[in-house]
Amino acid sequence: MVQLTLPKNSTLKNGKIWNSPEATGRWKEFRIYRWSPEDEQNPHIDTYWIDLDACGPMVLDALIKIKNEIDPTLTFRRSCREGICGSCAFNIGGTNTLACLNAIEDYEGAVTIYPLPHMEVVKDLVPDMTNFYAQHRSIQPWLQTQTPTPPTEWKQSREDREALDGLYECILCACCSTSCPSYWWNSDRYLGPAILLQAYRWIKDSRDEATGERLDNLEDPFRLYRCHTILNCTKACPKGLNPAKAIAELKKLMVERRV
Ligand code: SF4
Ligand code: SF4
Ligand code: FES
Repeated sequence: MVQLTLPKNSTLKNGKIWNSPEATGRWKEFRIYRWSPEDEQNPHIDTYWIDLDACGPMVLDALIKIKNEIDPTLTFRRSCREGICGSCAFNIGGTNTLACLNAIEDYEGAVTIYPLPHMEVVKDLVPDMTNFYAQHRSIQPWLQTQTPTPPTEWKQSREDREALDGLYECILCACCSTSCPSYWWNSDRYLGPAILLQAYRWIKDSRDEATGERLDNLEDPFRLYRCHTILNCTKACPKGLNPAKAIAELKKLMVERRV
């Protein structure tokens, strides 16, 4: 195995311990990544103790409790609390996942919470999604048609609609892309599993008439072909989707249109 020596000031140090467990209650330790561009310090890990008898069951409940009752400076994104908005994606206990869908009691020992890996950090647990959203925009994620818009609605057969199952549910949380080694090293040019699944969603839509242009847009040594089928993405998806399969389908379409 390759051994790397990190510069002295790049290692994560322990930060503040904000409170301590008390004699009564069921206390759980949370170790949370902290970094702020304003204080010009290296990142550090702060420790918070929560009495589970006075907290909701999910990891997001603990984060909200910490922010509301212990440390209002802790910064993170969240919105829906039910796995729909994709905002509360963090690396929890070593896995990219959604804080609102994971029960605290499923983690043994201290719960570690870091921002999604290999993204620039805006502050604490908030990653910079600018590049990710620009990549999403680049695949033109909207219905494109040549035929005139019908007077009522674009209709689909039941089968055509069902062909979008496993694709339309993507909430763009980026858990998959930030668990993909190819995306870690080439996120400036490789679109990554989340965006490629979205690209395939529009190609697969029976109402869309821009399939050729969409495939042209992906025909590039980096945008699509940096996927090496490592499958971390599919393992990471908290919605149970299969971005690796979507990428394989895209590659198949590329081959089919050449013959
Ligand atoms: S299958 Fe492709 S997209 Fe998924 S983790 Fe592997 S390289 Fe990344
Ligand atoms: S495919 Fe899954 S992990 Fe990836 S962005 Fe969509 S919902 Fe999140
Ligand atoms: S808060 Fe919306 S997905 Fe977790």
